[in-house]
Amino acid sequence: MQIDIITLFPQMFEGFFQYSILKRAQTKGLLSVNIINLREYSLNKYGSVDDYAFGGGAGMVIQVEPLANCIEGLQQKTNYDEIIYTAPDGQMLNQPLANSLSLKENLLILCGHYKGIDERIREHFVTMEVSIGDYVLSGGELAAAVISDSVVRLIPGVLSDEQSALSDSFQDGLVAPAVYSRPADFRGWKVPDVLLCGDPKKIEAWQYENALERTKQRRPELLKNLDY
Ligand code: ADE
Repeated sequence: MQIDIITLFPQMFEGFFQYSILKRAQTKGLLSVNIINLREYSLNKYGSVDDYAFGGGAGMVIQVEPLANCIEGLQQKTNYDEIIYTAPDGQMLNQPLANSLSLKENLLILCGHYKGIDERIREHFVTMEVSIGDYVLSGGELAAAVISDSVVRLIPGVLSDEQSALSDSFQDGLVAPAVYSRPADFRGWKVPDVLLCGDPKKIEAWQYENALERTKQRRPELLKNLDY
């Protein structure tokens, strides 16, 4: 998969893609990432790409022309499956959306800043608008990072044990069951006996019950759409 990200703050991504699963995906040749600095498409010598909003109001808007030039330049080289704009009024990121994006080859993510981007970019280039929650961030960079992380870990071969993505919270519509590691007894706090019994069927049944119970307690609304 190739993920290209257009941003005014490329340095914000420097650490993010260099660690853990995202780093491993690149090392394995399963992911390539290009961070594109929108300021390079500025129409003036100051590197600015924002301007006042027509009609007044507080806050600056990212201009249509630098962004259109940047996107069209990238499209010369890459045929994008989706051009995603990160915005609080977009479709909410969830596990089914991450799953479907993980099947794509090429994604372009536009990070907004200030009051947002000129609406004409949304109308003429953007194919999908994604929010990471009902709150407003200072810019789309964190959202782009969250989207990338949730998607890349689902690309087949990125995780060493594919089971560990399949057993993630939300993959089966439930939150994940409790997990434990050694020692089996710490200060008298004991790991449930069934997890030590060695019978995979019994363990699986316990994990399912535990996931169901936790979902009832923590996220009861998830159970509405579930056959169980
Ligand atoms: N940009 C600002 N707030 C955002 C949010 N909640 N989700 C995605 N992009 C954003």
